[in-house]
Amino acid sequence: MLIKSARIPKVGGYLVQQFAAYLIQVNMAASVGRICAGAGLLKTTGSFTVNQVSSYSTAREWTKGRKALLTTIGALAGGAGALAFTLDRSVRASDLELHPPKNPWNHHGWFSSIDHLSARRGYEVYKQVCAACHSMRFIAYRNLIGVTHTEEEAKLEAEETQVTDGPDDAGNMFQRPGKLSDYFPNPYANEEAARAANNGAFPPDLSYIVSARHGGEDYIFALLTGYCDAPAGIVLREGQYYNPYFPGGAISMAQALYNEVLEYEDGTPATASQMAKDIGTFLKWTSEPEHDDRKKMLIKALGMFTIMAVISYYLKRHKWTNLKSRKIQLAPKKK
Ligand code: HEC
Repeated sequence: MLIKSARIPKVGGYLVQQFAAYLIQVNMAASVGRICAGAGLLKTTGSFTVNQVSSYSTAREWTKGRKALLTTIGALAGGAGALAFTLDRSVRASDLELHPPKNPWNHHGWFSSIDHLSARRGYEVYKQVCAACHSMRFIAYRNLIGVTHTEEEAKLEAEETQVTDGPDDAGNMFQRPGKLSDYFPNPYANEEAARAANNGAFPPDLSYIVSARHGGEDYIFALLTGYCDAPAGIVLREGQYYNPYFPGGAISMAQALYNEVLEYEDGTPATASQMAKDIGTFLKWTSEPEHDDRKKMLIKALGMFTIMAVISYYLKRHKWTNLKSRKIQLAPKKK
């Protein structure tokens, strides 16, 4: 408490006062530290907690009534917590929703990239099947370059679409073929039009759907291949179909994938499960376009950190060797 009694010069004003207050706090903290160490609080002896906690505890001075009250409150709070936990568990257990099984995707694994041939087929599935109802407004044709298509191929894909552009010199909007910088076209003018065409349900945008659903690409695969007859007791409204993987079971999207609904460019047999896998891979890429770069970065980081770990271990041994291997010897002065 040296500093407490020191005189604080008036000249510096507020800042000096603040600084002095800070020094006093540091000094007090140091004193507390000394007290604790002195009382053996920081020593890790066997009988540490019980003795020391009880000697610092104020509970001994409490009245019986106060102790009873606190015990009751504790028991009630614990009971309420346990009740909430079990209720939550039982609500989940009664869900009629099936969790998607996990599949061995090619891109699973620390160093595995997206399967680009599969993603390219997935794009075909999106374009020929899903694009009729689902938008993908965060993916542009230029994003496909080097991932699923070459630049020329991506240009051709873009040119197949018609984009509203303008206004021109006369102030009119006009249609032009798509360019690489254009985003995938939206099948509906707005959400209301989409709902009107789909029995009131809105087909969600698919750009980030893999990140947006529990189960990710496994969910997409299970959803697309999981349609079946509704079990007894489940009533579907008109325009609804039964899919056990969809929360609630009643989905407004009809089964979209059947064997041979399209023909792949590369000759892969277009079975329903093949298409579901390919669209799953493609949607994984659209949700995480940085996927491959991220894993490449991991390889680099692991390499660099390994080298640095070896160097720092060597340096540490090198720097500490004098301290670690020294011997202290008392050499009394000769009279
Ligand atoms: C005929 C129109 C139509 C087609 C074609 C279609 N969908 Fe859908 N999709 C819908 C509708 C409508 C919904 C909303 C369903 C609901 O909320 O009940 C939906 C919902 C979804 C969902 C979200 C389910 C959820 O958990 O909310 C996914 C994922 C999906 N579709 C994927 C696809 C894929 C992949 C394809 C192409 C293979 C596709 N859909 C083809 C109409 C369609």
